[in-house]
Parts: sequence; structure tokens; C-alpha cells
Amino acid sequence: MTKRFLQALQGETLNPPPMWLMRQAGRYLPEYREIRSQATNFLHFCYTPDLAVEVTLQPLRRYAFDAAILFSDILVIPDALGQKVEFVSGQGPQLEPIKNEAQLEATLDLSNLHQHLAPVYETVRRLSQEIPDTTALIGFAGAPWTVATYMVEGKGSKNYEDVRSVAYSDPAFFQRLIDMLVESTSMYLIEQVHRGAECLQVFDSWAGVLSEQQFYKWSIEPMARIVERVKAVHPNVPIIGFPRGAGPLYEAYIRETKVDGIGLDHTVPLEWARDVLQPLATVQGTLDNLLLVAGGEQMEREVARILEILGQGPFIFNLGHGIVPQTPPEHVERLCALVRGEA
Ligand code: CP3
Repeated sequence: MTKRFLQALQGETLNPPPMWLMRQAGRYLPEYREIRSQATNFLHFCYTPDLAVEVTLQPLRRYAFDAAILFSDILVIPDALGQKVEFVSGQGPQLEPIKNEAQLEATLDLSNLHQHLAPVYETVRRLSQEIPDTTALIGFAGAPWTVATYMVEGKGSKNYEDVRSVAYSDPAFFQRLIDMLVESTSMYLIEQVHRGAECLQVFDSWAGVLSEQQFYKWSIEPMARIVERVKAVHPNVPIIGFPRGAGPLYEAYIRETKVDGIGLDHTVPLEWARDVLQPLATVQGTLDNLLLVAGGEQMEREVARILEILGQGPFIFNLGHGIVPQTPPEHVERLCALVRGEA
């Protein structure tokens, strides 16, 4: 049984390349909205294996992607550590912010982590039995920096001023928070592999707001420690890092963290990625998620350009960031045909 997605992560060049889409389960699919309407509380939905398994499988039925990604959220980690996390419809996540060491000590605790996340592990176990045998199962977590932005700001942010300020003004507190996230995220990912995840992706969606020095300290260093810990237990599991917006620092990120795969956002110049990054890791990306919304000839041309430039080496087709709710499902179908050469 060969899984094309895993072959690509081992460094093989495949034609056509394997493909999946970040956030491939979600509100752009009517069958997702139907199931989602049965649960008022989004976290509860993530912690109900029957529902989480079903929505993970939905996009596979339509599009036969080469990989399935566990349905959960990056904010289950702060929730499992004891921080109050809520998803308010129309407003995104809301957390009771943690701004200093005293609040951290009073709130966060690693001791119930596995117990709290047991339903997610059960979802992984069931998925590993239920997905088609040519489909790979991806487990995931948020990277410490990106998860910390929500924990400190208390919500999604535009410019991340609070968290970037506190990382400068109270580095002892911030380091302690990052260390707890390295620890809990490593435990979480290791357990997902135990239950059947065949690959791991770590989402550092807000890495692009960090200065060069801070990028090394808060994105690269914590990720290097996570990769080291996971590989100490599961040496063969491939790991994909996605430091969105890292620009020229993508190269250092790959070299220092030793990831097997690198998720590229839509701003990365493709020829540079081919020449500099692809020799170091399997590259994944890079279609602009809003071009998938627009569709049409512009999208067709860009897909052809991506395949032409990145398709000559180890490559996994994906978007440059998660699929958005306004995406027409027919455009996803068209994209699959284009990548698979069936168009
Ligand atoms: O299909 C998949 O990719 C699997 C599931 C998945 C979700 N979130 C489900 C979800 C994954 C991999 C994530 C990751 C995630 N969550 C990230 C990193 C990736 C990225 O897009 O940058 C981040 C930053 C989050 C945090 C988060 N979760 C936000 C900001 C929001 C609200 C905004 C939004 O998109 O609705 C969520 C909620 C969320 N997570 C939804 C889904 C399907 C929508 C909630 C709903 O259905 O009501």
C-alpha cells in the first residue's frame, strides 16, 4: 500500500503531485454546516469523536485528497491547560487573557492534558481505521508562538501589539509560557502518532509578524525543540512546519528545525523556493486561497505556473493558507482536476 503523500515527504518527486488543502473540512461545505448546526459549542464539537470523524471524512468523499487532517483546533491546547476558551459565532475565539507570570501560575497546569484531550486521541484512532488506505492521516497542533498570541491577546488580533510587547518587556514570563507550550504540544503530537497519525503539521500562522531576532527565538527555537522531542519517540514520522509569512527566513527555519516538509504561503517567490528551499525539504503550497475563491482563468494560469516550477522536485500541492468559507465547492473540484491533469 503506497501513500503518495508520504512518498513525497520522503523526498520523491511525483507527477502529478499529491494534494490536500489546509482547512479542507469547514464552512465552505454544506454538509459541514449541516453537522456543525447540531453543536452549539465549537470545542464540544471538536471533543465529540462521532462528529469530528465525520467532518474529517467529508472532503475526502468529494475530492479524494491524498491526505486527511484530523478535525480539531489549535486552541484545544490552552483549553486543556486550563485557560478559559470560547468560540463566539461571528467573532472567532475569545480567551481569558494571560498577561503575566502570576496569571500563568494561577491558571495553567499540564497535569490533565492527556485526560482532557482523550476525545481527540479517540478521533485519531478511529480515523486511522476509517480513511481509505491510500490516504495519509495528518495530526496537527498550533506552534507555540501562534497559540501564545491567542493566549496573551485573548482573541485574534490584527497587529499582535500586546503579545509582541510582552515578549520584549517580560521575557521571563513569555519564555515560561513558550516552554509550557513546547512541553504540552510535544506531548499532544507524540500521542497523536501513537494513535495512528502518519504525519504531523505544526501551524505557525502568525510567524510573519516577528522581527528576525524574535523569529529565531519564538518560532524557530520552540519548533526545533518540538521536532527533537517528537522524533526521539517517533523517529520516522514526517513533520511539516508552516511558519506563514517567514519570507527569506524560511531557509533558516528549515535548516534549524529539521522539518521534513515546509508549508509555503502565497507570497513566496516560486523560483527562489525551488532553488533554495526544495533541496532542503519537501515544499507544500502555495496557491493563494483567495484565487481559489475567484477561480477562472487566473486560477488556471497560476496552478499551471506552480506545477511547472515546483512540480520538478519533492512537492505537495496545497493553498498558501486555509480555505475560506466563501470558497465555491465547484472551484475546489476544478482545482483537483487541474492538479491531477484531468482538466
Ligand atoms: O480541515 C482542517 O484543516 C482541520 C481543522 C482545523 C480547524 N482549525 C477547524 C476550525 C485546523 C487545522 C485549524 C487550525 C487553526 N485554528 C489555525 C491555524 C491555521 C490557520 O488557518 O491559520 C488557527 C489560527 C486557528 C484558530 C481559529 N479557529 C480561529 C481564528 C477560528 C475562527 C475563525 C474561523 O475560521 O472561523 C477557529 C474556528 C475554526 N476552527 C473553525 C473550523 C472549521 C470554524 C468554526 C465553526 O465552524 O464555527
